[in-house]
Amino acid sequence: MPEKLAPPNPPLSDGVVTLRAFRADDAPVVTVACQDPEIQRWIPIIPVPYTEADARRFILMTLQAWHDGTGYEFAIADAATDRFIGSIGLHLGPNPRLHAVGYLVAPEARRRGVASRALRLVTRWGFEHIDIERLALWTLPGNVASQAVAEKAGFRFEGLARNWTLDRDAQATDAVMYSMTPEDLSDVLAADSVSASIPLAATPRELRASGTRAAPFVQIAAIAQLAPGSMRRVTLAGLDLLVAWTPDGIVVTDDRCPHMAAPLSVGDLDGCVVACPLHEGRFDLATGETVQMPTTGGLDADGNYHSSWSPAGAEPKPEPPNRKLEARRLTRITRLRYYPARIREGHLEAQLPILPE
Ligand code: FES
Repeated sequence: MPEKLAPPNPPLSDGVVTLRAFRADDAPVVTVACQDPEIQRWIPIIPVPYTEADARRFILMTLQAWHDGTGYEFAIADAATDRFIGSIGLHLGPNPRLHAVGYLVAPEARRRGVASRALRLVTRWGFEHIDIERLALWTLPGNVASQAVAEKAGFRFEGLARNWTLDRDAQATDAVMYSMTPEDLSDVLAADSVSASIPLAATPRELRASGTRAAPFVQIAAIAQLAPGSMRRVTLAGLDLLVAWTPDGIVVTDDRCPHMAAPLSVGDLDGCVVACPLHEGRFDLATGETVQMPTTGGLDADGNYHSSWSPAGAEPKPEPPNRKLEARRLTRITRLRYYPARIREGHLEAQLPILPE
């Protein structure tokens, strides 16, 4: 039998969620959460209907399991309010290859990464304190949200375990099986430490691309595909993005010159300044400002006119006919716009104004 453990003190937390032992006063919120049809659909052992007596019984059971050292169930609480928002537990088997983890999240706390955060906390704690050779995690086949949580936390997909569990009618049913080994956890921790050491450039708030304020973060590239001093284009849902790793950190902006839309990704990056492949325009990726106006001249971001010019040693070009000249004169070179970015689990993510499918 594994050694008996006490609930960690202080509780496990990443600043957003806290994992603590259940308390008797969690019963009313647990009752409400477990009446959710989605929880009842995906967790067949949850009683239906679910009453406060069920919640009290469950809480007592978790405390008894801590006492006996047979399982470690945590209440997931909002780190700011300490209110119950979910449950996650390590269910111990008779040997180090037969432990498992399971979780649920209350409806009002979903789509905020709560389960992923809790799973990462509990797996780290579990591998540190318990002899685990394989930690299993399984879901019913249709529970794609839970499967995404498992993969995000670094669990490996194994396949469909046939007749693995029982459905609500006590009939054998399949389960989608994931697992984590100590080696998998080492890989996850290594990826996290790489992510933590990669800087993101601070970009001016007023230069956020429109539609990004409440937009979801979308994965745009694996960090392993990027290198300091490099640029690359990433196209997602009709958006051509420029990902540039400057001395100030990584920026995500449009892969479109603010002059006449040429792809900046095929230009040159020199420090924080990108040189457009057309018309000699140069732009500062750290500030969004134009460093050198294009040879064609035009209006700067503040509306000031700049005349055309020729690079040193080049023959001045004749001025174009009137209408073209007028078009050049009125072309405004705006400041660059940025997509707020973050790094998660070895990937660069950015807030993109893409509607969910
Ligand atoms: S298109 Fe880039 S400077 Fe003209």
